[in-house]
This record gives sequence, structure tokens and C-alpha cells, in this order.
Amino acid sequence: MNWLDRLGLARRPARVGPVHHGHADRLSEIHAAAFARPWSANEFEAFLSDRSVQIDGLYDGRDPQPLGFAVSRHAADEAEILSVALARSVRGRGHSRLLLAYHLQALAHAGIARVHLEVEEGNVPALALYRRLGFVQSGRRPGYYARPDGTRASAISMTRIMSDPAP
Ligand SMILES: CC(C)(COP(=O)(O)OP(=O)(O)OC[C@H]1O[C@@H](n2cnc3c(N)ncnc32)[C@H](O)[C@@H]1OP(=O)(O)O)[C@@H](O)C(=O)NCCC(=O)NCCS
Repeated sequence: MNWLDRLGLARRPARVGPVHHGHADRLSEIHAAAFARPWSANEFEAFLSDRSVQIDGLYDGRDPQPLGFAVSRHAADEAEILSVALARSVRGRGHSRLLLAYHLQALAHAGIARVHLEVEEGNVPALALYRRLGFVQSGRRPGYYARPDGTRASAISMTRIMSDPAP
């Protein structure tokens, strides 16, 4: 470690960029740490080969592997966000906004007019993130998610109309 590293001055700010097949294991690890039903590296490999799927990665410091991701699937002019997750080590710093704003911009450039998602009702950081980026609640599905402890949680459906002005 050189003196810049020791002082924390070598640290570059978080950035968003593409992910590739060499990132599938890390993407799966981040997903497994964030959700009760993990997606395997093979599932991420399949996403990465699917032209209807967009995945963007969050990078921090010198780590060449992503520390977060946003993944969505699109058809015609609509997209659905399938998952957004950050490694715990980089949460709580506003990086998710950078990641999702970039992801939405990429979808807009691809001609997407509406973006949909579903999120657990009690997921306060995720709801705040989505509202901050202009998603509006479009529905609620009581008891939609099964929690690992056997209880159920409602899903909030949200939509972002891409032609609406940024909030
Ligand atoms: C959802 C997730 C990506 C958000 O990233 P984060 O780094 O934790 O959140 P950020 O620091 O970017 O903050 C996002 C917003 O949530 C708020 N927030 C963050 N943590 C919070 C907490 N514990 N309580 C209340 N609000 C919180 C922030 O203030 C911010 O809102 P603001 O823009 O109005 O100030 C991250 O928590 C995560 O990976 N969670 C696990 C996976 C998940 O639940 N994904 C979403 C469902 S698909």
C-alpha cells in the first residue's frame, strides 16, 4: 500500500459502467447477500447474453469488480427493473442514485417510455431511491412476497414515465 492509499487519497469516486461475463460471480454474491432467493452466476451469465436485458455495474475505488448492479428487461417501449442491489460496504452513501440514474438514462436512450418495478412495502431505502428518481406508486399487492420467516409482505408497484420531467 503506498502513501496515497494510506491517506485514502488514491480512492476514486464511485462510477457506473458496463458489466461482462467475468463479473457474473461477483454479481451473484452481491445478489445473494441482498435477497432471500439468490440468483446464481449462471443466471447472471444468461442475463449478460440476453439482448433484452440491460445490466449496469457500480464500481468504487480500485476494485475492478462491481460493488452493485441494476438489471432490467425490456420489451417494445417498456422495461421492468428486475433488481437493484449494492454490497453492504458501499450502502448509505447515495451511490444507488448514481447507479439507477445512469441505468434509466441508458433505457431512455434505448427508446424506453415507461419503466416498472415492484418493491417490498417496508424497504425504506429502496422506496426512497425510486421516489427520488421519479417513480410513482401504481399499485399494491398484499402479501405478494414470502419472507424467509414464513410471514408475507406486500409489494408496491411503481412506474416511471420517462417523458415526465426529472424530479
Ligand atoms: C436499495 C439499495 C440499492 C439502496 O442503496 P443505499 O446505498 O442503501 O441507499 P442510498 O444511500 O443511495 O440512499 C437512497 C435513499 O434511501 C434513504 N435511506 C438509505 N438508508 C436508509 C435507512 N436506513 N432508512 C431510511 N432511509 C434510508 C436515503 O436517505 C436516500 O433517500 P434520499 O435520496 O431521499 O435522501 C440498497 O439498500 C440495497 O442494495 N438493498 C438491498 C437490495 C434491495 O433491497 N434492493 C431493492 C429492491 S429490488
